[in-house]
Amino acid sequence: MAVGIFDSGLGGLTVLNAAQKHLPDVPFLYFADSAHAPYGVRDAEDIYQLTRSAVQDLWNRGCNLVILACNTASAAALRRMQEEGVPAGKRVLGVFVPLIEALTERQWGDNSPPREVAVKHVALFATPATVASRAFQRELAFRAIGVDVEAQSCGGVVDAIEEGDLILAEALVRSHVDALKRKMPFPEAAVLGCTHYPLMEATFQAALGPDVKVYSQGDLVASSLADYLKRHPNMLGEGEGGFLTTGKPGFVSDRATQFLRRQITFQAA
Ligand code: DGL
Repeated sequence: MAVGIFDSGLGGLTVLNAAQKHLPDVPFLYFADSAHAPYGVRDAEDIYQLTRSAVQDLWNRGCNLVILACNTASAAALRRMQEEGVPAGKRVLGVFVPLIEALTERQWGDNSPPREVAVKHVALFATPATVASRAFQRELAFRAIGVDVEAQSCGGVVDAIEEGDLILAEALVRSHVDALKRKMPFPEAAVLGCTHYPLMEATFQAALGPDVKVYSQGDLVASSLADYLKRHPNMLGEGEGGFLTTGKPGFVSDRATQFLRRQITFQAA
């Protein structure tokens, strides 16, 4: 049995890491489309085609459930994949909803009409494709009213993380936070709307200041996954866990090992 976790590259490891803590007995099959990362500068059609083929690969390997641990893929491809129909017994889920439910203080599956919530000024940091999709604002509008969202498209950060250039990644994060603050000087909350960004969470928090609550997706997605699997144990699937990449396995393994501070060994997809 295995649950699939997909990202364009290493960012989904922030979700995998949290999922392994919440569900220590569940094997996960992680798929990094490193050869095509970053997705955030691609157009929606391209992101859809790449995401669909990776998810299909995970389904073919025995996973029944695939988590898109990638906001860019969730924004550009998830709805279209679900509308086109998925094979019987298979499922694909994204990462937006658990985060928005936390931000709007909702319980899982609370579909009551949108209402006023405590937080009024929210900074969203995400890839250019996620920002352009406005998917975050759309999902938020289903649940909350009166929330002002200022989105900052963080070009370059995913590339720098994938290359392991953390000095460049830090400099870029600081400059994107400065740009956000010029548009919204006092956000109450900041959403790290790309699964790569929690790898830079300390830099985001330092640049935003201690009064800003920073939301990242790892634990939120992991606890909603644990809940989902309790209700749908048949979605545990077949096959074995492991790490697959379309990139160079040695290079990707070194970066992953550096980020998670434990040995991670990728195989060629
Ligand atoms: N981790 C992906 C996300 O959450 C990064 C996308 C990219 O490859 O640009 O959006």
